[in-house]
Amino acid sequence: MATLPVFETKRLILRGVTEEHVADWQKNFVDYEVVRNLSALVPWPYPDDGVISFLRNVILPNQGKDRWVWGIFLKENPQELIGVVDLWRPGKPENRGFWLARKHWKKGIMTEAVEPVIDYAFNELGFSELIFSNALGNIGSRRVKEKTGAKLLRIQPAKHVDPALTENEIWELKKEDWFKFKKS
Ligand SMILES: CC(C)(COP(=O)(O)OP(=O)(O)OC[C@H]1O[C@@H](n2cnc3c(N)ncnc32)[C@H](O)[C@@H]1OP(=O)(O)O)[C@@H](O)C(=O)NCCC(=O)NCCS
Repeated sequence: MATLPVFETKRLILRGVTEEHVADWQKNFVDYEVVRNLSALVPWPYPDDGVISFLRNVILPNQGKDRWVWGIFLKENPQELIGVVDLWRPGKPENRGFWLARKHWKKGIMTEAVEPVIDYAFNELGFSELIFSNALGNIGSRRVKEKTGAKLLRIQPAKHVDPALTENEIWELKKEDWFKFKKS
């Protein structure tokens, strides 16, 4: 397993996830308001060993190879994992997922967290474009994309944990557009 770089932003530290983060991940993620927006591939009700199994079987064997999964920590409370940013290739078609504990929503945290990850994807991992997706109606996730320069490509049928969410938005962020966007 490769060690991921640590990123620091104004308020946050992003570190590669490890087994020591499982309890916080389970505590902050297993919340229907968080999970309902995700792909129907995510089980609900969420199993008690869901995070540890996902970490051991899916993330850690691929960490730093074709998957890069950072935990999000507040500098003011650097022990508690409060969210995750997850990057992968090849895209399905999307290359990224993220979630944040509900008590921290709408403070600009995810917009702040994705910036160093996008930089790393383009500067170090060799991505020339990133594809993102979100359930149609997931305003917070949509705004994070808009606020980081992504362009909406299309809306298509998709299944989510909440069966009422029947479509998703597919977005694209090209490398050259990201660096232009950052300058502007
Ligand atoms: C999507 C998510 C990560 C957004 O995180 P966040 O830290 O709250 O996002 P930000 O504060 O950086 O949001 C950017 C903007 O969206 C707004 N926003 C965030 N959540 C919102 C919501 N539920 N409704 C309306 N606006 C919202 C923010 O206020 C901010 O507004 P601005 O445009 O005025 O700056 C978080 O809501 C979450 O974890 N949701 C559940 C899991 C999920 O949906 N993951 C993504 C799957 S595609």
